[in-house]
Amino acid sequence: MERTFAIIKPDAVERRLAGRILARIEEAGFIVRGMRLQHLTKKEAEGFYAVHRERPFFGGLTDFMSSGPCVVMALEAPDAIRKWRALMGATDPAKADPGTLRKEFGSSIERNATHGSDAPETAAFELGYFFRGLELI
Ligand code: RTP
Ligand code: MG
Repeated sequence: MERTFAIIKPDAVERRLAGRILARIEEAGFIVRGMRLQHLTKKEAEGFYAVHRERPFFGGLTDFMSSGPCVVMALEAPDAIRKWRALMGATDPAKADPGTLRKEFGSSIERNATHGSDAPETAAFELGYFFRGLELI
């Protein structure tokens, strides 16, 4: 089994899509090991996306991610990291495959409904950023 970190981003929560996205997560075979609603501050969003701090979209991205509550989750499944990225689809909803969450629920490259860790190292950092060890036993 592997764990990954996932977010239902503020655009999807605001549009009341969290329940439908969670259903898709469960239908795909993931076990939800941790979950809560969290409204990030700008500083918390900057810390989370620190790898992107030099990118031109960093300011807009962290404004967006702190604009309203999101749902943060620890998901478990065999090959969870790759499997969750596949279910989300490409970063830009316009380029995402049919049937993926970003194709179905995303509205732009920034407001793309979901986040997922991209490697074991980032999953470890991101899970630890949002959940204490005790919460994920
Ligand atoms: P994420 O980290 O959120 O799961 O998305 P990702 O790996 O597919 O994409 P990444 O390159 O890590 O970008 C992080 C988030 O930044 C926003 N973004 N905006 N305006 C733009 O050109 C642009 N590019 C990326 C998206 O919200 C993306 O998910
Ligand atoms: Mg990323």
